[in-house]
Amino acid sequence: MKDFLLQVTSQQELVPGVFSLTLKGFTQEYEPGQFVQVEVAENYEPFLRRPISICDVEDNNLQLVYRLKGRGTKLLAKKKPGDKVRVLGPIGYGFPLKSQRATLIGGGIGVPPLLGLAKKMHGQGMEVTALLGFKNKEEAILLSEFAKYADLQVATLDGSSGRRGLVTELITNKDDLVYACGPEGLFRTLETLGVKGYYSLEKRMACGVGVCLGCNITVIKDEKELRQRVCHDGPVFPIGSVKWGD
Ligand SMILES: Cc1cc2nc3c(=O)[nH]c(=O)nc-3n(C[C@H](O)[C@H](O)[C@H](O)COP(=O)(O)OP(=O)(O)OC[C@H]3O[C@@H](n4cnc5c(N)ncnc54)[C@H](O)[C@@H]3O)c2cc1C
Ligand code: FES
Repeated sequence: MKDFLLQVTSQQELVPGVFSLTLKGFTQEYEPGQFVQVEVAENYEPFLRRPISICDVEDNNLQLVYRLKGRGTKLLAKKKPGDKVRVLGPIGYGFPLKSQRATLIGGGIGVPPLLGLAKKMHGQGMEVTALLGFKNKEEAILLSEFAKYADLQVATLDGSSGRRGLVTELITNKDDLVYACGPEGLFRTLETLGVKGYYSLEKRMACGVGVCLGCNITVIKDEKELRQRVCHDGPVFPIGSVKWGD
């Protein structure tokens, strides 16, 4: 992990309210699923950095894809080519690669970190299926990028792109190891379906580096309940290991 001062090379609105930011000079190796803590202001207001997953890194160019939410992401969206942004990372544990076949399942703004994963798996000769779910066609992002590395299928709630319904309805092979990122509802459905694999969690964060305990959750390991920090021990956890509602 290193604190970088990176230069913005592009900032593009992919669909309304979702931006792709590219920053030059990210020289660290990373594991897909890891994230960075992004300083959004120059004058320490807001003081806390914002956690954003690494979408991809190509030739030391770090790509982040983020949705406008509150004050921090609004400030980030104002950055222009040539501006400098301080970024700490990569942070946490990413997705472990454990088999020759994998199904990646992403929902909404949970889709971006799976792109770097699809690329890495494809590069290692793995057979990759990507199932991506969105509310509608207007919110669908990164489809052509995923299609380069995976057998891609899309679901939208209103049927405006791909199959109508939930992304989990696209699952046909429950034997593949699953790598998921998205809302809690998606993770709970995966648990109900009994699939095996990993999900990447989001939890409100303050320090982002394991100090403040603000992102504590309960996980079940060897039938024991343990308190773990999403930023330090995750954000990737085995499917079925998280005790929800903490
Ligand atoms: C490991 C991780 C990876 C993430 N990856 C992405 C990503 O790739 N793309 C993306 O759009 N969003 C991602 N998020 C969510 C993103 O961090 C929040 O949307 C963002 O921090 C909101 O900041 P804000 O100032 O715009 O919103 P505000 O609501 O004003 O934020 C107020 C405070 O709450 C924190 N906060 C608010 N929502 C979240 C959240 N969901 N998760 C963590 N902290 C939050 C902020 O960091 C800030 O400290 C990720 C979150 C985590 C934990
Ligand atoms: S955010 Fe501080 S310990 Fe995780």
